[in-house]
Amino acid sequence: MLKSVKRQLPVVAMAVAFGFITLAPALAADGKALFTDKGCVACHGEDAKTPMQEGFPKLAGQGAEYALNQMKDIKSGARTNGQSVDVMKPIVAELSEDEMKAMADYLFSLREAPVAAAAAPATPGKTLFLTKTCVACHGKEGKKPLPGYPSIGGQDKAYILAQTKDIKSGARANGKANAMQPVMHLVNDDEITAIAEYLSTVK
Ligand code: HEC
Ligand code: HEC
Repeated sequence: MLKSVKRQLPVVAMAVAFGFITLAPALAADGKALFTDKGCVACHGEDAKTPMQEGFPKLAGQGAEYALNQMKDIKSGARTNGQSVDVMKPIVAELSEDEMKAMADYLFSLREAPVAAAAAPATPGKTLFLTKTCVACHGKEGKKPLPGYPSIGGQDKAYILAQTKDIKSGARANGKANAMQPVMHLVNDDEITAIAEYLSTVK
């Protein structure tokens, strides 16, 4: 059994060398390698969930469709809020859509299975999250979003705060933000702060 596998290997190697088989698509789809090679780790962390500084988003486990759309929107200039132009745009400007998709798929593959019975304790922020409609779109503990919507449970506190305020003010209006904007009159700055506090503690 082992012997026959070994005997076949040189044949595969030759086929590759002579161009009968191309390994390029498999390599292009390696989102993990791209995430390191393209320098994403410098700001978003080796594990994609230890951002270099406060206010930078965690990406591990984020929905693939959502993450891909954000990269495309930052590249095209549809998303210009916060630090997306100064910090992220130069990086994504160099990426192809295939590369962005491979990385988005990789980031989604890092989603962890929910830990049983680890629900965060009731806090004012949690109550607001449940009563101010956030839960309807972002799901239980902010981790079960509707398709294409972002997961926000466990996200960096300063990032949640800034993005929620930007969507409320209209400074961020890309993608599906118009789904969220109309309910933002329900929350004031103090309430947004309390919600961000709660969400950032979700495991
Ligand atoms: C120099 C730092 C830096 C580098 C390098 C960087 N990013 Fe970012 N990234 C950011 C910041 C900051 C934001 C948030 C922008 C804002 O304030 O709105 C962001 C946002 C994002 C978002 C949107 C997150 C969300 O929840 O909406 C994705 C996806 C993303 N980055 C992926 C990547 C990928 C993939 C790479 C590598 C190709 C990369 N980033 C490289 C700093 C960086
Ligand atoms: C009707 C659906 C809906 C409701 C209700 C809603 N959101 Fe959102 N939210 C969205 C969508 C859709 C996006 C992503 C927009 C895009 O495509 O760029 C988003 C984005 C966000 C983001 C940015 C995520 C990131 O990774 O950049 C934060 C933070 C957020 N919402 C917080 C909240 C909070 C807090 C509430 C409640 C006060 C809330 N949302 C209520 C739909 C909703």
